[in-house]
Amino acid sequence: MLTPNNQLWAKNAAVLIVVVSKNTLDRDGSPARTHSYDAGAAWQNLALQGSLLGLVVHGMQGFDYDRAREVLGVPPGYTVEAMIAVGRPGNKAELPRAPAGARGSFRT
Ligand SMILES: Cc1cc2nc3c(=O)[nH]c(=O)nc-3n(C[C@H](O)[C@H](O)[C@H](O)COP(=O)(O)O)c2cc1C
Repeated sequence: MLTPNNQLWAKNAAVLIVVVSKNTLDRDGSPARTHSYDAGAAWQNLALQGSLLGLVVHGMQGFDYDRAREVLGVPPGYTVEAMIAVGRPGNKAELPRAPAGARGSFRT
């Protein structure tokens, strides 16, 4: 479900995470107005911690959102926000060509 450019470098990532947020509050079902903002904050913490551990943590919007929702069974009322590739840094020279924005491939 990744775009071809993202497949080039993300195919060896150890983990691909799809970030999903809930649009309403558990408490009373009212709109959670900051659900995307909160998911963004969580993603940033993941990126910072991963970076501290020497990992590549790369956020992406280049994937098929509808397909992700379908394959993962994301129910109505939840928003598919982004995908994150996590892995150890690979060698950029191993990429067939360097897509714009890509920093390198992954070892695992
Ligand atoms: C909203 C958003 C969507 C992005 N989508 C992609 C993507 O689909 N593929 C990709 O290679 N980089 C994507 N990027 C860029 C990377 O996440 C990253 O920001 C960029 O490679 C620069 O990283 P660096 O500042 O650590 O070098 C996206 C960035 C943002 C903010």
